[in-house]
Amino acid sequence: MSVIELTEVYKSFGSVHALDGLNCSIREGDVCAFLGHNGAGKTTTLRLLLGLLEPDQGNVSVFGRSPVKDGEAVRSMCGVLSEDTGLYEPLSVYENLIYYADIYGLPRGEADRRIHDLLELFEMPDKCDLPVKGFSTGMKKKTALIRAMLHRPKLLLLDEPTNGLDPVSTMELRKMLLSLVKDSHATIVLTTHNLEEAQKLCSKIIVFRHGRDIFTGNMDELQKHPEYMENGVFSLEKLYLMLEGGDGR
Ligand SMILES: Nc1ncnc2c1ncn2[C@@H]1O[C@H](COP(=O)(O)OP(=O)(O)O)[C@@H](O)[C@H]1O
Ligand SMILES: [Mg+2]
Repeated sequence: MSVIELTEVYKSFGSVHALDGLNCSIREGDVCAFLGHNGAGKTTTLRLLLGLLEPDQGNVSVFGRSPVKDGEAVRSMCGVLSEDTGLYEPLSVYENLIYYADIYGLPRGEADRRIHDLLELFEMPDKCDLPVKGFSTGMKKKTALIRAMLHRPKLLLLDEPTNGLDPVSTMELRKMLLSLVKDSHATIVLTTHNLEEAQKLCSKIIVFRHGRDIFTGNMDELQKHPEYMENGVFSLEKLYLMLEGGDGR
């Protein structure tokens, strides 16, 4: 089943064509990476999927619904990690999480169990009562990712989840995402500049350039492709450099 369908989508901000005829289709259970340079239209696409922006032209469908007309229903099925995490810094981890659990309408007992389990899973139960304010970027991202998962969303939209993290935090967060991929049947869309991360986590990639999809591929098919091999192993970096017309050829 298709979870996300974008057909010939256009979106401009003044004279900037952020999306310029984008097509993409993401199926249930896909873990899809949006790749592409800064300004290619990745974040704009995520905002369209959540109904936070309206397309100028074209069709956007999430779970068969219009995110603009059916915004509340669509957003209730989504977990979101935005680039700026959007946490309330003076509040503790628990207070941040329970605030959202209330918004999602989770009963208090169930919310407490879920928060407890996720803090255990992400190896931060000792941080529960600490204010978010003093946290590193990595800890803030982890907290925001837990918040995004509280209501067991069917679709997770993660905008640059590992951007700005040091290598250890990146590895930890990647581990979290991997366990998420294994444990949940959720569909995940993430944007990243980190090709290694996309290769390790994702089943599908869509490469954006100037507001269009210039390449879509399923990882299991790409991995068999002799052209993208480096020393006998699939290399997303090589594929990406070929697309960018770099020195991968
Ligand atoms: N709210 C906005 N107002 C004006 N321009 C915007 C706005 N949002 C995005 N843009 C522009 O649209 C283009 C695509 O941006 P974005 O989707 O954020 O790219 P990406 O996430 O791939 O880096 C960029 O040129 C950006 O400056
Ligand atoms: Mg972006």
